[in-house]
Amino acid sequence: MSGPFSDITETIFADKSVLQESYQPDEILERDEEIDAFSHALQDVLFGYEPENIFLYGKAGLGKTAVARYMMDELRAEVTVRDETDDLHIHEINCNGKTLFMVVRHLVNELLPEGASPFPKRGLGTGDAFDELYRQLDRIGGTHLMVFDEIDHLDDADTLLYELPRARSNDYITDSMVGIIGISNNYTFRQELSAKVKDTLMETEISFSPYDAGELRTILRYRAERAFVDDVCDKSAIAKAAALSAQDMGNARQAIDLLRVGAEVAEREQADTITDTHIEAARTRVQRGRLQNKIRDQTEHAQYILETLAKLHERGEVPARSKTIQEGYERVADSYGSTPLTTLKSVQDHLSDLHMLGFLLKHERNQGRSGGQYYEYELDLDPMIVLETREEIVQASE
Ligand SMILES: Nc1ncnc2c1ncn2[C@@H]1O[C@H](COP(=O)(O)OP(=O)(O)O)[C@@H](O)[C@H]1O
Ligand SMILES: [Mg+2]
Repeated sequence: MSGPFSDITETIFADKSVLQESYQPDEILERDEEIDAFSHALQDVLFGYEPENIFLYGKAGLGKTAVARYMMDELRAEVTVRDETDDLHIHEINCNGKTLFMVVRHLVNELLPEGASPFPKRGLGTGDAFDELYRQLDRIGGTHLMVFDEIDHLDDADTLLYELPRARSNDYITDSMVGIIGISNNYTFRQELSAKVKDTLMETEISFSPYDAGELRTILRYRAERAFVDDVCDKSAIAKAAALSAQDMGNARQAIDLLRVGAEVAEREQADTITDTHIEAARTRVQRGRLQNKIRDQTEHAQYILETLAKLHERGEVPARSKTIQEGYERVADSYGSTPLTTLKSVQDHLSDLHMLGFLLKHERNQGRSGGQYYEYELDLDPMIVLETREEIVQASE
């Protein structure tokens, strides 16, 4: 008997998970210098000294998260074979979409003894959460490394980065030590931190530069060997995926996505090998698919604001202040027969959310000596994709 699935066999993939986002490679390739600098900065941990604070930065897809995970795994392993080292606790948190309170609460909950009820979501404030954090740190003792990934998405990063490194010198903790590892996709984030925070956090800065085509080929070859059945992936397909991604920010995540989607295209065509034509076809799908889904997930008004910023971009009027964006947004909302949100504050809240979600770049500006501060915003993605996605959504709803 034959059903809709009976003809399907796995011909291309030996282990597709190797190409999926959650896969953590056993080896980090082509990042020897960064790993060197990182291990140097971490070595104090091995001898029971207060850890150095470390800041990793570089554009998306350059291996920051992968390198940090790898280093933490290696450090954990190293600590277990050395008797003289303090107990080491590593806490890894992605700050994307979280508030300061959520981040501190998360840390507290990780530290609370087993069976204790979690720190309440409501009723207590961030200050209370910090107090509880310090109590728990001292209760447990040892060295605590806290990895804050995508910290540029955290609105009040300054407070976090001010508080934690000073906890010991301020006597909030005495029996434990804390080290901070901040990871940011965006370098302007660093410039916007207060001077005091900059000094402490930036004891060691490690910058991740874009991969060139040769480095991406090495990374892809490693994955291809593990992901595909022998000999189905052409060398030229790997070279193509590497070259396309090298041209476009040197992003390893994108290179791996191209390889995976290229393989899926080949699979669907029942091709025997993955070729550069399949990678070409994958390119358009990868770029657009990701962003389109993200845009579609936004509320109606958030989408109007994205559309406004795309239009301002086309006219060369970005970065723009929230007031300018509000005016454009009102026109956009009107044009769809929708009633715009009336207050500037509500537009600013949306801008702040969209920034947290990674759609926008936010620039802090100072107004000379009068001391006022304000923000300017622009899209952090191709405006054409916003406009086309909006068009598709509107057409589908007509
Ligand atoms: N040097 C590398 N060696 C092996 N895999 C890498 C390397 N750099 C990046 N990757 C892979 O590329 C993808 C994106 O890397 P990631 O660390 O998430 O980037 P970032 O955190 O800088 O945005 C992940 O799948 C990661 O495993
Ligand atoms: Mg990352």
